[in-house]
Amino acid sequence: MSGSRSRVRCGRWCGGAFGRETRRYNGPITNTGEDIRSIYERHYSVASRRGWWSDPWSERNLRAVYYRQLQERAIVGALNDIEFELAGADILDVGCGTGWLLRFFASLRADPSRLHGIDLVPERIQFARAQSPMLDLRVGDATALPYRDESFDLVCQFTALSSFTDLTSQRRFASEMTRVLRPGGHVLWLEITRQLKGARTRAVDAAAMRELFPGFDVLDERALFHRLTPRLVDLPALCAALERLPLPKTNTLAILRNSGRL
Ligand SMILES: C[S@@+](CC[C@H](N)C(=O)[O-])C[C@H]1O[C@@H](n2cnc3c(N)ncnc32)[C@H](O)[C@@H]1O
Repeated sequence: MSGSRSRVRCGRWCGGAFGRETRRYNGPITNTGEDIRSIYERHYSVASRRGWWSDPWSERNLRAVYYRQLQERAIVGALNDIEFELAGADILDVGCGTGWLLRFFASLRADPSRLHGIDLVPERIQFARAQSPMLDLRVGDATALPYRDESFDLVCQFTALSSFTDLTSQRRFASEMTRVLRPGGHVLWLEITRQLKGARTRAVDAAAMRELFPGFDVLDERALFHRLTPRLVDLPALCAALERLPLPKTNTLAILRNSGRL
């Protein structure tokens, strides 16, 4: 990786709301799986030297706590609205990172033996396994998922697909998610929808999401994270107001269902 590539700020990389918004994609032409892995590995070695809570997305970082709470509220709201029952569902989180989403599902009565996660970065999977030994957690690439066709009722991805900056890889990622999903199964998705200048991610807006999942119905769509939220997390009342107002947001949480129509 070149020097300038490696000086990526984590907040931008992690799909956060930092950086200036831009409508056009102006990042590098491609991020290969190897690029993505080395960025995360580099980031984690820096974070562990400094103290792991210095990582803006660690469980001990107050900004990350606030973001996670917003996501959890949105997930529960969306699942309740479509009356999705987690108990008894086979669930996969692609790009699961340290596994928080799977642990959150377990706290919502999903069966831990039916929770599966996969991530490119071995350190993240090691951490996830230490936290949750009962889950099936694997190191692997979303573009070649090591699961049989039609294995899951719910396939999730949270800001992993946007790590790929080329459309071909994003399409392969989405088609693998579709392959392992059962007919009538659901996708739960959180993605960056506004391209950030200088970010090494490629935003996926509502139209691009629909193109990635032809034959799916979008059952629920919620905008999350005002661009000022990261700077205001010490003023939660103000953040909450910004989130409630119908202002542009940087991310979207969506639930899609495979209708079987193509
Ligand atoms: C921004 S982090 C989000 C992690 C987790 N989904 C969360 O919400 O906390 C993106 C994660 O996707 C993983 N990732 C990116 N591209 C991937 C790929 N092609 N296959 C598997 N994992 C990938 C990264 O290693 C990273 O852990």
